[in-house]
Amino acid sequence: MDIAKEIAVRAADIEQRIQMYLPKAEGYQHTIFEAMDYSVTAGGKRLRPMLMEASYEMFGGTDPKIVEPFMAAIECIHTYSLVHDDLPEMDDDAYRRGKLTTHKKFGQAMGVLAGDALLNYAFEIVAKALVAQSGDAKAAKAFEVLACKAGIYGMIGGQVVDVEMTGKELSKEQLEYVYENKTGALIEASMMIGAILAGADEAKVAAVHKIASDVGMAFQIQDDILDVCGDSALLGKPTLSDEENGKVTYVTIHGIDESRRYVTELSERAVRELEEIGGDNEFLKELVIWLINRDK
Ligand code: IPE
Ligand code: IPE
Ligand code: MG
Ligand code: MG
Ligand code: MG
Repeated sequence: MDIAKEIAVRAADIEQRIQMYLPKAEGYQHTIFEAMDYSVTAGGKRLRPMLMEASYEMFGGTDPKIVEPFMAAIECIHTYSLVHDDLPEMDDDAYRRGKLTTHKKFGQAMGVLAGDALLNYAFEIVAKALVAQSGDAKAAKAFEVLACKAGIYGMIGGQVVDVEMTGKELSKEQLEYVYENKTGALIEASMMIGAILAGADEAKVAAVHKIASDVGMAFQIQDDILDVCGDSALLGKPTLSDEENGKVTYVTIHGIDESRRYVTELSERAVRELEEIGGDNEFLKELVIWLINRDK
């Protein structure tokens, strides 16, 4: 498999399908539609919906329409997390996905509201799917995972400690908590929801949870490496943002070489555990390996 090509094909396909779930720009509140559309359609790797669908397929899921609303929802929640992460009160960044950040383009109030809107709209999409599939316990369970992993026991929890610990020494456990939650939680949600919707049993979902936790940790450490060594034009966001903000990261503690080594170790462990589960996992395994050397 030409993995780079396969990823590009899947991302373009996801792009189109997500677009169909976004609201139409009508009414007095038109600015919010513009700001939502601006931030979501700015590009982005679409990694979380891609992981979700690949996990759904790995566990034998066959109906794309079942997983699609959740794919759109996770990308909306992820995009909201980026819009708020870039606000002056948080990382104060001016570029994202190759364009001005949403608050730079639309003003701070609209930056806050566009993030709020994307989060709420994600649940509007999923609520409609739940009504359409009423009585489906798998969809209800997927909804619970989505809500919990996005919230105070997931992404928001991680962002809280990330902000509070800025400029301070972090223990190994605190750093792990931040990474597992600010970044790991939405990646875990993606892969778990794919598995749940495909009907995987509890033990399999727990195995996927652990694998996704490694993928998430590796993904955030690679993000930290790219913040130091990456090309901002390729990344579509500024480099050296962490240093400017006085962030303690895995890279500032352990250095680039050890960080790269650990990204590889985590990713290889994830692949071995995917192999143990079995199923149609070829794309997922190659995607995880490809992420080790991503440059954006
Ligand atoms: C950026 O996520 C934020 C982190 C969790 C590190 P991505 O690198 O997936 O950003 P996009 O979606 O491609 O813009
Ligand atoms: C990403 O952390 C976490 C979330 C956005 C939830 P970063 O602050 O490192 O992400 P980037 O580098 O701005 O994309
Ligand atoms: Mg941040
Ligand atoms: Mg940031
Ligand atoms: Mg970063």
